[in-house]
Amino acid sequence: MDVTVALTVNGVERTVTTDPQRPLLDVLREDLHLTGAKYACGEGRCGACAVLMDGRRVLSCVTPVSLADGKSITTIEGLAQGDRLHPVQEAFLEEGAMQCGYCTPGMILSAVALLQQTPNPTDEEIVAGMNGNICRCNGYVKIQNAVRRAAEKMRR
Ligand code: FES
Ligand code: FES
Repeated sequence: MDVTVALTVNGVERTVTTDPQRPLLDVLREDLHLTGAKYACGEGRCGACAVLMDGRRVLSCVTPVSLADGKSITTIEGLAQGDRLHPVQEAFLEEGAMQCGYCTPGMILSAVALLQQTPNPTDEEIVAGMNGNICRCNGYVKIQNAVRRAAEKMRR
């Protein structure tokens, strides 16, 4: 039976009436037309679908939309302030930390969550914090550099 879920997405209150078990990713992409979060493995193994829920990273492909009821969701579309990119977005651009870009929204949101918890991470903490986000283009060195650069920017 469908239920109505009320959630805030990128600062905007939204309601959707749907199967409560439907993945949050499907609702974001298909109902709310926010296609930044990507579908890849569909089973919680790659991080392409990562979004923030009340500031914490969740894998939206394995998160039933009912769990988002009353929560605040941030997708890649909600990170920039107008024309001003989030420091993590800036750092990814400056380091060229993307090739095909398919993993990038999930990488950036995972980095945001990491840096909110650990503003001055060691390289080991960056690797551990980004563990679970897979880049099929193997851009890990530049991604790690971007997270380090973003941390510096955010501490300034
Ligand atoms: S698509 Fe969600 S973790 Fe891979
Ligand atoms: S840039 Fe292609 S999957 Fe990461």
